[in-house]
Amino acid sequence: MADPFYITTAIAYPNGKPHIGHAYEAIAADVIARHQRSEGKAVRFQTGTDEHGLKMAQKARDLGVTPRALSDEMSSYFRAMCDTLNVSYDVFQRTTDESHYKASQAIWQAMEANGDLYLDRYEGWYSVRDEAFYDESELVAGEGEEKLSPQGTPVEWTVEESWFFRLSAYQEPLLAHYAANPAFISPESRRNEVVKFVEGGLRDLSVSRTSFDWGVPVPGSPGHVMYVWVDALTNYLTGLGYPEKTPEMERWWPADIHLIGKDIVRFHTVYWPAFLMSAKLPLPRQVFGHGFLLHRGEKMSKSLGNVVDPLELAETFGVDSLRYFLMREVSFGQDGSYSAEAIVTRCNAELANSFGNLAQRSLSMIFKNMGGSLKVDLAIAPADAGLLHTVAESIACMREAFTALDFSGGLDAWMRGVFACNAYVDEQAPWTLRKTDPARMEAVLMTLLKVVRDLALAVRPVVPSAIDRLLDQMGVAADARDYAALDDKSWLSDLAASGFSLSQPSGVFPRLEVPVGEEA
Ligand code: MF3
Repeated sequence: MADPFYITTAIAYPNGKPHIGHAYEAIAADVIARHQRSEGKAVRFQTGTDEHGLKMAQKARDLGVTPRALSDEMSSYFRAMCDTLNVSYDVFQRTTDESHYKASQAIWQAMEANGDLYLDRYEGWYSVRDEAFYDESELVAGEGEEKLSPQGTPVEWTVEESWFFRLSAYQEPLLAHYAANPAFISPESRRNEVVKFVEGGLRDLSVSRTSFDWGVPVPGSPGHVMYVWVDALTNYLTGLGYPEKTPEMERWWPADIHLIGKDIVRFHTVYWPAFLMSAKLPLPRQVFGHGFLLHRGEKMSKSLGNVVDPLELAETFGVDSLRYFLMREVSFGQDGSYSAEAIVTRCNAELANSFGNLAQRSLSMIFKNMGGSLKVDLAIAPADAGLLHTVAESIACMREAFTALDFSGGLDAWMRGVFACNAYVDEQAPWTLRKTDPARMEAVLMTLLKVVRDLALAVRPVVPSAIDRLLDQMGVAADARDYAALDDKSWLSDLAASGFSLSQPSGVFPRLEVPVGEEA
């Protein structure tokens, strides 16, 4: 049986429509999922929405609707975003599902059984925007000297009876876990921050609220709902059927990667592993905190009026172009910037002019000069062997980089393969060989067919629908599009033997234009 690979995204608060940051995370997770499937892994990919808490309750109150109605409506936009962007999730987990209440109450009871929960009084600062408690020492002064969270969000003084989780007891176990599992918190800069934070000492964590009721009820404690992060984090287990000992729990837990934004690393690398240790469950193998997307170098905010609807971007430039741009342009883990021109420039240079043009030229020469038929057993010249070698190397390098989550580096390696092909076309000039040496022309065109197919298979996790349209035209079977197909030496002879011939090709990577009015 194939090795399992379980990947999750963070689940967003659906208190508004999804923005480009949500799209970025979903796309990156999808590229990881598709890459791992191409590598032959059995992949489970979960995303969803985080629907409880004060932030949702307040938003619903402002809009004059129930929190449930707000969640139902907004959650559907997140799901639709994933569907539109070709995000191949297996499970879309909502935290208002009945099964999620069961899972959250079960993990609560497991922590309680371990002696880690006690009732006391919370007195301290709370940020509704972050749904986070802060220590006085963490606060910063705002412009009017008001107190703000370290994220710059408003905080309010909160006093209420609350259940506490004995987080303080987990300082040493957590530090030991970080030390023994260096990749647990990635990238490394995030790891250092967390280690410093935990070394500074941990206070017990308030894990229930009594001042509102939009949450999962604390078992056996009327009036208390769980702190939203306790239930939210548990979503990663709910989707597998926890607390039942399901085949899914058995097969997929612990998760291989929780992909999240850098602002919520603490919840995932301090609270979550402590909850899991307390509930006697294995810890995820890796938490990866990606960076933020900036628009022309600026943070997006409603007041700046630069909040972009990712579906509009996809509509303007195409889903595949948007996916390619985000994976190529941003060094994964760091912040990145985007603009209409940057998307157009990058996609035109690399997808349309380099790879797209290579594929289109190669297929159309085969169509025109060979009647679309494929030839095998042609004499191979050193230049052909050299190109096949260079392309194979670029793809190997790309796969390694993708496994290490270095997408921009991986695509850089892929582009090296594409450039080598275009240089080869120019050098071999098959259009002149047509008259002088037709056999040689056929060898060149068949070499091109091979490298185009291989480069297409390699980049498929990033731009799946364009590549599938290309591979369809090339007669590549739908079940032979993973990386294992790269090692299949007989695909071309099998395809030729099947009688397949190329039709007039049509390009799959259109040239993009900056929409009028969006120039810098
Ligand atoms: N809703 C949280 C946020 O947007 C993320 C929750 S991720 C979780 O910051 F899975 F851990 F819940």
